[in-house]
Amino acid sequence: MKLLHIVGSRPQFFKVAAVSRAVAELGGQGTGIEERLLHSGQHYDYYMSAVFFEELALREPDYHLGVGSGTLAGQVAATLTGASAVLDEWRPDAVIVYGDTNATLGGALAAVQHHVPLAHVEAGVRTGNLHQVEELNRAVTDRICDWRFCCTELNLATLGSEGLAAGSYFTGDTMLDNYRYFQSHLDNAIIERRGLAEHKYILCTIHRAENTDYPERLGALLDTLLAIQREMMQVVLPLHPRTRTAIDGLGRGGELKRAGVIVTEPLGYRDTQALLAHSHLVLSDSGGLLREAYFAGRYCVIPWEYAAWPELVEAGWAVAGAVERGALLARLEQAPAPREPEVSGLFGDGNAGRGIVEIIKAALA
Ligand code: UD1
Repeated sequence: MKLLHIVGSRPQFFKVAAVSRAVAELGGQGTGIEERLLHSGQHYDYYMSAVFFEELALREPDYHLGVGSGTLAGQVAATLTGASAVLDEWRPDAVIVYGDTNATLGGALAAVQHHVPLAHVEAGVRTGNLHQVEELNRAVTDRICDWRFCCTELNLATLGSEGLAAGSYFTGDTMLDNYRYFQSHLDNAIIERRGLAEHKYILCTIHRAENTDYPERLGALLDTLLAIQREMMQVVLPLHPRTRTAIDGLGRGGELKRAGVIVTEPLGYRDTQALLAHSHLVLSDSGGLLREAYFAGRYCVIPWEYAAWPELVEAGWAVAGAVERGALLARLEQAPAPREPEVSGLFGDGNAGRGIVEIIKAALA
């Protein structure tokens, strides 16, 4: 069985690592599974890509398309074209795409055009707004794939309500597989290096286009971060390149640092997990960090009106809403203190990768 993983952006490297690890745990090629990895190249900076291959012990890409930055249309088209050539050449028995980025959609279209069975990991997530690019990517991918693997029961129910119950499975979240697997490998060097005190800082990330690409909105968010730093607690802010460029564009690059905010480059997996483990809470528009916050027992305030994981809001682990200073500060002030890591099974049992590989293998046997 020849299995092609298609990835290209930061959040996908975690997910494919868990699935690929499961292939190895099940016996690697001894199970009759031959894997190859296609990297579209949408993310290319060391701290957006290579660091995760090193830290997660992910196999080097067998194919690299060098798609790079550009328009949504350009990234999808280049991934589709490049992946098509690989499918022609290698002829895999199945393709797996992950999450909801442009690499997901480009890879999915290529597989279906080549009549190669297609699996979507992290299926059934919906915000209900098709004008948001990730929603479009995942909704289209879910519609055209053969197997949909869901992180939560709600995702599975959503697919059922869209008439997609057949071929859909609740396998759990590959991010939880990684969280469990790497807990014993964490090191706290970054906490000491930055002089951070236990539960005395807020870990913040902002990268959604909806937050970075509208100057008024980004300005309001920056004002709020400054107010948190002044009036509430230390802020630690690893910056996605998109966000750094947008902040520089507003001419506010130095303002956060002068106020005492700890601004860093994007961080690797281990540093992020260490920062999370010692934080007071998380302020983030990242769906991945939101879930990891829950795994670690940290509340997450989402600076965005859409909660892509409403089950976490419902369970009292997160809150979503407007970014204006008053509203956001109020949500932060009402946030519960750090809790014991969660073990409810909302996101499965940490064996999502294994479940995914077993289902695909059985279906192709
Ligand atoms: C993409 C995904 C988003 C995901 C995010 C995680 C889409 C539509 N969006 O958004 O769903 O949550 O990745 O990070 O696929 N850049 C660099 N170096 C890099 C990569 C990007 O400097 O290695 C800069 C470029 O200026 C680029 C900008 O960041 O134009 C945005 O990158 P892009 O890949 O288009 O989208 P993301 O915001 O990363």
